[in-house]
Amino acid sequence: MDKDVLILAIESSCDETAASVVKNGRCVLSNIISSQIKLHTLYGGVVPEIASRKHIENINQVIDDALNEAKVTLDDIDAIAVTYGPGLVGALLVGVAQAKAIAFAKNKPLVGVHHIEGHISANYIEHLELEPPFISLVISGGHTHLVHVKEYGKYEILGKTRDDAVGEAFDKVARSIGLGYPGGPKVDKLAKEGNPKAIDFPRAVVEGAPLDFSFSGLKSAVLNHINMCQMKNLPINEADIAASFQQSVVDVLVSRSMAACKEYGVSKFAIAGGVAANSAIREAFVNECNKQGIDFYYPSPIYCTDNAAMIGVAGYYEYMGGTRHGYDLNAVPSLKIGERL
Ligand code: KG4
Ligand code: ZN
Repeated sequence: MDKDVLILAIESSCDETAASVVKNGRCVLSNIISSQIKLHTLYGGVVPEIASRKHIENINQVIDDALNEAKVTLDDIDAIAVTYGPGLVGALLVGVAQAKAIAFAKNKPLVGVHHIEGHISANYIEHLELEPPFISLVISGGHTHLVHVKEYGKYEILGKTRDDAVGEAFDKVARSIGLGYPGGPKVDKLAKEGNPKAIDFPRAVVEGAPLDFSFSGLKSAVLNHINMCQMKNLPINEADIAASFQQSVVDVLVSRSMAACKEYGVSKFAIAGGVAANSAIREAFVNECNKQGIDFYYPSPIYCTDNAAMIGVAGYYEYMGGTRHGYDLNAVPSLKIGERL
């Protein structure tokens, strides 16, 4: 029998300090996440300086916990995988420096991983049967991308947002109706009490680019609606706004994704990223994929938002494919999907 391959993965691209041990690319032995959300909530969003400082404070403990929970030591680890982009440069640097130090001290291979390719790979954890090719919709705080996963480690971008990311739109709309940060889960919850047909918000189409997205008009439409209510002294129904906004997002995401599956003749579809935890989005894709005969995959909420297990999975396939980084590996805040530096 082949020896197990153990990856120690580190993730620090935004406001979660995370480490994980993953066995053979699919089996998560530990998944430790130290979230800074409470701290950043005080400021209404992530403060990059504070994020970097907290990563430095937490990272050793998080890695120790990940090794202990997996009941392994650094000597048992085959390679160190780390997110090196995209993300906040100062935050990324903490993880990258730590990974390089461990790789050097223990003479282990170092594998840099793309954060969004990690999000996509989160789908492999609970769906052992899932293999490329498939199409993935990545929806997070910073990304809205339709990606063709052609084989392990081979990605082609089919469509993307021209302005705001979906998660950004959720967070901004949440703020405009008085919900705190991060807004996505709060809009999701409040929308359950509202009528998704109450307000006819726009479903933007990007001229000449049928698989691209645009959410800035939708965000403005929500703000205009609130202003109009205030000017006319009409009551503002926050739950209806949340539900109608979310419905507009759902309609756009579903129609583009189904069009991509059709155009590329792919019958497997997976969602990924923090916004993939949204209950209405998951339900809409379950129904639509069922109708279209497409196999639909989505990670548990804990693997949708930032975590290191997903980096361990993507890192495993990179490692097996021969990717090795040197000690000159740097943080690349705007690293592109599919790009290899
Ligand atoms: O992937 P992620 O944890 O971090 C980034 O890489 O950006 O995504 C964070 C985003 C935030 O905008 C947050 O509001 C959103 O995911 N989010 C949600 C839900 N849970 C998290 N958006 C809508 N509904 C949710 N249930
Ligand atoms: Zn993320």
